[in-house]
Amino acid sequence: MELHPHEVKVLKALSNGEWSNPEKTSSETGLDSDAVLRAVSWLKTKEFIESPEEIRIEVSLGDEGIEYAKKGLPERRLMNAIGKEIGIAELKKKVDSETFKIGFGWLRKKGVITFSEGLVKIIDSSETEDEKLLILLKEKRKLIVNDLSKKEQEAVEQLKARKNVIKLSEEKIIKFKATKKGISASKSLKIGDSLSQLTPELITSSGWKNKKFRPYDVSVYVKPEYPAKKHPLQVELERIRRIFISMGFSEISGNFVESSFWNFDALFTAQDHPVRDMHDTFYLKKPSKIDIPGFDRLWKDVAKTHESGGSTGSAGWQYKWDKSKSYRTVLRTHTTAVTARYLSGLSPEDLPVKVFSLGKTFRNESLDYKHLPEFYQVEGIVVDKNATFRNLLSILKEFYDQMGFKVRFRPAYFPYTEMSVEPEVYFEEKGEWIELGGSGIFRPEVVRPLLGFDCPVLAWGLGVDRVVALKLGLKDIRNLYVSDLDWLRKTKTQF
Ligand code: PHE
Repeated sequence: MELHPHEVKVLKALSNGEWSNPEKTSSETGLDSDAVLRAVSWLKTKEFIESPEEIRIEVSLGDEGIEYAKKGLPERRLMNAIGKEIGIAELKKKVDSETFKIGFGWLRKKGVITFSEGLVKIIDSSETEDEKLLILLKEKRKLIVNDLSKKEQEAVEQLKARKNVIKLSEEKIIKFKATKKGISASKSLKIGDSLSQLTPELITSSGWKNKKFRPYDVSVYVKPEYPAKKHPLQVELERIRRIFISMGFSEISGNFVESSFWNFDALFTAQDHPVRDMHDTFYLKKPSKIDIPGFDRLWKDVAKTHESGGSTGSAGWQYKWDKSKSYRTVLRTHTTAVTARYLSGLSPEDLPVKVFSLGKTFRNESLDYKHLPEFYQVEGIVVDKNATFRNLLSILKEFYDQMGFKVRFRPAYFPYTEMSVEPEVYFEEKGEWIELGGSGIFRPEVVRPLLGFDCPVLAWGLGVDRVVALKLGLKDIRNLYVSDLDWLRKTKTQF
């Protein structure tokens, strides 16, 4: 039988009949380990070597597990509160309700307490296998489940049933050895002359014409490589940029620190409007004031519009606008501040205009799986005398189509738009629609003072983090900002 030179080298190295692995055979043959793997796969189909699949499972502590390893499992903490025995009512007073709820369930499941007539008694307080494993994991950080004792493996199973206590990851282990057939074949090996590489010489001399080519085997297992790559969030941000650029938009940008004028006043948001409230907005102590380009030219019209509608025909908000409040500095609460500033610099000759901006915005939100105090928005406007509400919906639909989401619109309210809609995308896994931002046509009360003339302005500001998390299969947007190396390595980022 004719073999490829790599096959010959590998089979010779294995002729002692012992188990080997890619690294070992690679150093023995001088071939790189992917070449070894390829040769192994060919030799396997010829039954010259055997290579049983083995999966190695690695276990480490999850967030909750780290906590438990430090403070003890809830049932241990509860047990400590019980002492020898205790009345249930008194016990409930001694621990927080979470510890009681989780701990009590586990103590009963483990069969280490009795509970009758309102009295809880401990029957066995010895350390359990799962506790031992937690401590071991805290010390060693990682363990290979395959190498653990039966009892320890059962403890892994037990901890797996609890949420976020341990993390498991699988790794394929590759080992191989020559079969009898392979060992006897290795004594009389011949190198075949089929080609695996086409060289310039072979092409110019037409020498390739009488040769056989070795076919590719695309099913050969190669070791995963984890080269440095961009963070998945950055990749998605670039994708968003490309989508808007491909629709003919140009990018504009602005500052994180903005005046209340651009963030609110210019957007017809009354000075006593609840969104300005401290609960939502981060006001800055320093700088307490900021320069507002174009302010001298703009403030009077903005003030009049707020107070009485100015020349727009609206009644305005009917209050006394206070100039000093518009200097107050904020961390921009939306990218609409960028849009407002840009709009004020346009003149009729610049039209039609299509621009977008992409950047962080800041709100004083409590953290949870779908809220972050700083998050990305992608914002855009179309300033065109022929623009319509339908155009707005189709731009948004096109954007979400390209991101791979089904979108629908529902009516909404913003102080600066009329009509207003909120796009929502479908979250397949939860069977839920989730809202993602706002859009609408800027009111004349915004356009007239800033532009100086009337023109339809289509506008939107969309939350980015939630869609990106969904796209990456994350159920919690906070995970976008956790440097989980394993996740970063394994997440596919593609363009
Ligand atoms: N600024 C709004 C928000 O942050 C979104 C929006 C932008 C709404 C433009 C309408 C027009 O939620």
